[in-house]
Amino acid sequence: MRSGRCELRHSPPERLTWHDERVMARSEVVVDLGALRHNVALLAGLAPSSETMAVVKADGYGHGAVQVARAALEAGATWLGSCSTQEALALRAAGIQAPILAWLDAPDEDLAAGLAADVEMSIASLSDLRRIEQAADEADARPRLHLKIDTGLSRNGCQPHDWPALVEAARKHEVVAVWSHLASADEIGDPSIDLQAKRFDDAYEVARSFGVDPKRHIANSAALLTRPDLHFDIVRPGIAIYGLNPVPTDHDLRPVMSYRSHVALTKRIPAGESVSYGMTWTAQKDTTLALVPAGYADGVPRALSGRMEVLLDGKRRPVAGRVCMDQIVVDCGDDEIAEGAEVVLFGDGRRGEPTATEWAELTGTIDYEIVCGMYRPRVRRIYT
Ligand SMILES: Cc1ncc(COP(=O)(O)O)c(C=O)c1O
Repeated sequence: MRSGRCELRHSPPERLTWHDERVMARSEVVVDLGALRHNVALLAGLAPSSETMAVVKADGYGHGAVQVARAALEAGATWLGSCSTQEALALRAAGIQAPILAWLDAPDEDLAAGLAADVEMSIASLSDLRRIEQAADEADARPRLHLKIDTGLSRNGCQPHDWPALVEAARKHEVVAVWSHLASADEIGDPSIDLQAKRFDDAYEVARSFGVDPKRHIANSAALLTRPDLHFDIVRPGIAIYGLNPVPTDHDLRPVMSYRSHVALTKRIPAGESVSYGMTWTAQKDTTLALVPAGYADGVPRALSGRMEVLLDGKRRPVAGRVCMDQIVVDCGDDEIAEGAEVVLFGDGRRGEPTATEWAELTGTIDYEIVCGMYRPRVRRIYT
């Protein structure tokens, strides 16, 4: 240091990125697009009379929406489902031309841009319709609408008593579909499913009575897998295309995401030494520790502290002590572990490694949240 300024020995990279492809990542999510294609083809085959809308919202449930969308379309999906118009526009920007439905926007979303890009939109109220009509004027575009009926989930969707007025107001536009979403499709036999199905039928009949001839869609992954009577014209699987099964059936779904890192450092500690914040774990005998540079800022839930295992050098091994922001420490006993060795945090389970579903069970959540939570700037995402 001279004159108070820092002098760099190397010039900084021209473009700052989180990942330098030439070096090993701290941790990486590996997305198996072959498994995704397999799952989509399997699911489409289970609903042979319906089209398949692959749900790629939330950046493809953390897997990368554009890559997932392309693979899903190759494997037989003909529609894509996104949450926001922005998400749909990102797919269009990547050159994807398949029909896309966007179903929930912030009130000031730029709908005109969506309509100009042929994004199909969901409406649940007359105010939704007004916003879309205004945007359609601005964009000089014809809206294509999916009318959403609230059949019992009480989220977005039109209440049955407002439905006739909505259909009447919307019918001057192209009404592509009447649609809804199930609250408890993953609880097989739950009476709410039949009740929602009945309300869905009623709403469809009302639409027909106004001279509209829409498609129908209501089935998420769980309904696709267990309720063929609810497949209708389009099925909308999300989690199942990512290989995670929301119902206890034995369909051959293959988990698409795995998460791995590498050993950054090994060390031997004597019996009686403790590990990590709060010293909640103490070695009962001399042992070898392997430090892994992945912590809660990289998607490893801190709630897994004291309960998680990883696959390292062919064996499942316990993580000692608390999960930190940047690292975990694996207890390897007397095994010799090489620095740089691969550490599988979760995967499809075929090698005995933990799965995203196991993480979810251990932390009291669902695997949806685990995979969605893996989209982090520090975690490199690679595709196979
Ligand atoms: C409207 C809608 N349809 C379909 C899906 C896909 O659901 P799943 O991931 O359970 O298949 C979702 C996801 O939550 C959704 O919000």
